[in-house]
Amino acid sequence: MILGIETSCDETAAALITHDGEIVSNVVASQADLHAKYGGVVPEVASRRHLDLMVPVLEEALVAEPEAIAVTSRPGLIGALLVGVSAAKALAWARRLPLIPVNHLHGHVASLYLRPLDLQPPFTCLLASGGHTMLLDVRDRSGYTVLGTTLDDAAGEAFDKGARLLGLGYPGGREIDALARQGDPSAYDFPIARVPGLDFSFSGLKTALLYTVRELSASELEARRADLAASYQRAIVRALVERLETAGGDRIAVVGGVAANSELRAALPEAALAPLDLCTDNAAMIASAGRYADPVPYPDYLSLDARATA
Ligand code: KG4
Ligand code: ZN
Repeated sequence: MILGIETSCDETAAALITHDGEIVSNVVASQADLHAKYGGVVPEVASRRHLDLMVPVLEEALVAEPEAIAVTSRPGLIGALLVGVSAAKALAWARRLPLIPVNHLHGHVASLYLRPLDLQPPFTCLLASGGHTMLLDVRDRSGYTVLGTTLDDAAGEAFDKGARLLGLGYPGGREIDALARQGDPSAYDFPIARVPGLDFSFSGLKTALLYTVRELSASELEARRADLAASYQRAIVRALVERLETAGGDRIAVVGGVAANSELRAALPEAALAPLDLCTDNAAMIASAGRYADPVPYPDYLSLDARATA
């Protein structure tokens, strides 16, 4: 059994998985409601809430004795990460267990290695979350090579900022996804940035939405909101799918919070998609990555530090 712990952003999560990738428990306490009134995650508020939630979440997830503890140590909000890393160190030290520091991005990719999906490399992976948008070449389960990345906003960030411009709640991806179903995706022609190579850019799209919204009165915005959401979502999905097509490769996989998007999922019928509940941040994926990362033996990890960057 491996215990996973994840606190890099606004989800406090713990999960137990078996060595062959079966999920035994998977507890996620989302702080989304807490941050909604600010329209985004407030780092210091997140750290404090992680402190409140960490122990109860661990108690609920620990339905059996783990043999190792995997924890997200980078990248993320530093205060938030420190709560998970400190909890993991304390638990591992008390039980004399090894500790496995995990890169959050590797965790997202490893969501594909959990059963029943149990995906085997090689594949080309789109990782699209609130903090990152990357194309990865995955040759084995222990890592990946970055083929392309966003030059400005992440795809999830584009959803969140777009939602804000449209007066929708946080996190915005799910809200736009839901509203877009009632709208016409061809109502507005939003631009798709075509940057060289395999990189992404979403800031122009966000600005285009801003300018469009500015031209509308409050009642016009109300009437056109679903069309705007649908057209905006269409542009993001197109940009992501186009890049995947440019990258080529026989097998394609998609992970991260944006992989929960219904239009993106429908646009990639052949792709391996992370299961819906494993797209957004969770600790099962961190435990899963822990199976393919290097454990640090007791008590060497006591000096382990969290890091804000990858
Ligand atoms: O992977 P994740 O939980 O956290 C990070 O590591 O960033 O991703 C969160 C992001 C948010 O930006 C959220 O708006 C987006 O994933 N998201 C979605 C959907 N559900 C979550 N974006 C589009 N459609 C969705 N259904
Ligand atoms: Zn994430």
